[in-house]
Amino acid sequence: MSIPLHIGIIMDGNGRWAEMRGLPRFEGHRRGVERAMEITEAALGTGIKVLSLYAFSIENWRRPEDEISVIMSLLESTLKGKSLNFMKEGIKFKVIGNRDRLSDNTREIVESVERLTENNDKFTLQCALSYSGRDEIIRAVKRAISIGLSPEDISEERISQLLDTSGIPDLDLIIRTSGEQRLSNFLLWQSAYSEFYFTSTLWPDFTKEELLEAIYNYQTRDRRFGKLTNGAVKCT
Ligand code: FPP
Repeated sequence: MSIPLHIGIIMDGNGRWAEMRGLPRFEGHRRGVERAMEITEAALGTGIKVLSLYAFSIENWRRPEDEISVIMSLLESTLKGKSLNFMKEGIKFKVIGNRDRLSDNTREIVESVERLTENNDKFTLQCALSYSGRDEIIRAVKRAISIGLSPEDISEERISQLLDTSGIPDLDLIIRTSGEQRLSNFLLWQSAYSEFYFTSTLWPDFTKEELLEAIYNYQTRDRRFGKLTNGAVKCT
């Protein structure tokens, strides 16, 4: 099977990584952000076209304020520091999620990097920030109503266009680190036919080698999309 076009990663285990070492949780997040950038670099060389990273869920707003503020400032400083790199490498940066809850500062930084990189077309780094799949679907339905779509206008294609991920292909492969085996509200619509790769590795320890291992593993899968292998459609 070919290289996946779109990989999503649920980067889990930063807190446990830090706690296991007697370090404060923010050290795990600091290391996690470094990993996110290293894995983006690694993905660039593989033929993948889109990498979606689950950075912060809507549910994560329930975490203590100081942890939220560390994650947001790590994100802001990383974006500021990496934007020229994104230009050099041809990376388009895009945030998906509910921007209403982001601080003005975070939103301004995110949007300036999005504007700067919008014409890059080698690779897309899609960052799910203040994101949940159900919230994205609710916002899409509200948009459909607000632009006056009628029931006959509604199709899979139309819904896809109304989502934050409009124009981005569905996920081929989802990787989740830290041993948890669930989707946690990540790209619910776009993962309808995704393959999954679960690993017990904590995100700060995830390496380029393991990314390649996940891709090789994906290449052994038989993706039938509801059909039989010879292309016939199953009746059940
Ligand atoms: C999950 O670990 C991780 C997070 C909630 C934050 C991850 C965010 C990043 C790595 C930032 C990504 C940045 C860019 C620039 C894309 P956890 O805290 O839930 O770990 P635990 O389950 O062990 O407590």
